Amino acid sequence: MNLIDGKKVASEIREGLKKDVLKLKEQGKRVPGLVTILVGDNPASQSYVNGKIKSSTEVGMLSKLEKLDKETSEEKLLQMIDSYNRNDDFDGILVQLPLPGHINEDKILNAVIPEKDVDGFHPVNVGKLVTGQDTLYPCTPAGVLELLKYYKIETRGKHVVVVGRSNIVGKPVANLMLQKKPYADAIVTVCHSAAKDLSAYTRQADILIVAIGRPRFIKADMVKEGAVVIDVGINRVAADNPKGYVNVGDVDFESVAPKTSFITPVPGGVGAMTISMLLKNTYKAYLMRTGN
Ligand code: GUN
Repeated sequence: MNLIDGKKVASEIREGLKKDVLKLKEQGKRVPGLVTILVGDNPASQSYVNGKIKSSTEVGMLSKLEKLDKETSEEKLLQMIDSYNRNDDFDGILVQLPLPGHINEDKILNAVIPEKDVDGFHPVNVGKLVTGQDTLYPCTPAGVLELLKYYKIETRGKHVVVVGRSNIVGKPVANLMLQKKPYADAIVTVCHSAAKDLSAYTRQADILIVAIGRPRFIKADMVKEGAVVIDVGINRVAADNPKGYVNVGDVDFESVAPKTSFITPVPGGVGAMTISMLLKNTYKAYLMRTGN
């Protein structure tokens, strides 16, 4: 079994970006800008957003946090997005999900102009991904591909089974793995909670990608010997420590790991990559917007 070290790969990406941003500064150019909009006080969202602000600042980008009250109206949020759409200092606009129930998520994701959509959630960017056009790809799925590439895990013609069909992970990662490109070009099966016998699918996977948000759900008997297991889950479970919780994945790491050829831990696996991919997208949006 080989452990996939997302923390190390993510840190190397950030070091590279830091140099790129420094070069822009030395040339007297504007640096890439990212605005993160957080509505409400969901503790997990707050912690993710803090990480985004810290990392974007550390690589030298212009980084701004817009914190809005949980009662903020949809109209007010749309107005804010519109002002950043037109603000040339910012290349990336990220609206942290989930949003409070009174706000229509689709309407918000549609409002960020595709050129600044560093989450890759706008239908135009989703359409480009599905049709194989270069664009801004969703961060967590892009992080999965980056890890496969870093560890030179062959994917061409391999059976990738994705468990989960969310717009944030399941659907985009399946589409990325399907692309006719290196470290993709796979045979892809997507399965989800309606499967009568989920393990009949998961046991066929050469590469199993799990994103269902259920703690330690995938057990050893659901995984083929020698498979590559990519665990996208981050679930808070109660624990007897000062924080009162620990984060665990969707995979029962203890029992599954010995059967695998490669596996991502939680924490320190895919989750560690998401922010670095967001910064990469912000830099890419900057280059596209400035005509580079
Ligand atoms: N909430 C959970 N994951 C994500 C993500 O990748 N982007 C945003 N904006 N919100 C999230």
